[in-house]
Amino acid sequence: MKRFRILAAALLALCALGAAQARSLDTVRKDGRIVVATEGQFAPFNYFKGSTLTGFEVELAELVTQRMGLKTDWKTVGFDALLTGLQQDRWDLVIASHGVTPERAKAVTFTAPHYCSGGIVVSLDPAIRSAKDLAGKVVAVQTGTSYLESVQKIPGIQQMKNFPTDVDARSALLSHRVDAWVTDRFVAKEMIAKAPNAGMKLGDMVFVERIAAAVAKGNQALADAWSKALAQTMADGSYTALSQKYFGEDVRCH
Ligand code: ARG
Repeated sequence: MKRFRILAAALLALCALGAAQARSLDTVRKDGRIVVATEGQFAPFNYFKGSTLTGFEVELAELVTQRMGLKTDWKTVGFDALLTGLQQDRWDLVIASHGVTPERAKAVTFTAPHYCSGGIVVSLDPAIRSAKDLAGKVVAVQTGTSYLESVQKIPGIQQMKNFPTDVDARSALLSHRVDAWVTDRFVAKEMIAKAPNAGMKLGDMVFVERIAAAVAKGNQALADAWSKALAQTMADGSYTALSQKYFGEDVRCH
């Protein structure tokens, strides 16, 4: 009986391991398809135009996976679920503007970065521009982001309000429920250009970060294949053309 119990426990442990086993590069290659997850609520990087998923990261991923000789199956889920889904082997790769942080690197394996950016202050009040100006203020950020992490460290913040999407955080600013919104510099630029009469003012950058795709922890061969194909798009002009189309500049890390 005891032996049976030990055996059952061992089997269960094996199953749990098996379930968390990420698909290797070989398996993905044999399948010919890679499952890529993103959020779809972070224009101009990943968003829905009507019912079509698009954006700089979506188009870039299509270029990169094509170079890898793969077809892409897209999944869109809440930002919070993206990295944990890698650990549960629900998809092969995540591309959703994740900054490479030591904390995240404990849980996932990052590829080479596909752009460099940072968090920026957006406010309706021109007097709120810098990190210092945020003292005593209420600041909106998206849950689970590096913005939250960095704003938390700014001394004297009155309150940080978390929102499930960055779009919700922006709405909170526009409806005067918060004093400032901290988001990606390119997201902010695009929003201000799209709604020039909304009164949003671009403040200073509060930190910089390298943005990369991620795979399950230790799935190094898949990460390397992605990084290699990404480097090819950066060398053959296709990355630059795409970046120009979205941002009017080349957003790669230097
Ligand atoms: N760059 C920030 C981070 O690393 C925000 C990413 C938000 N991405 C998104 N798809 N909403 O956390």
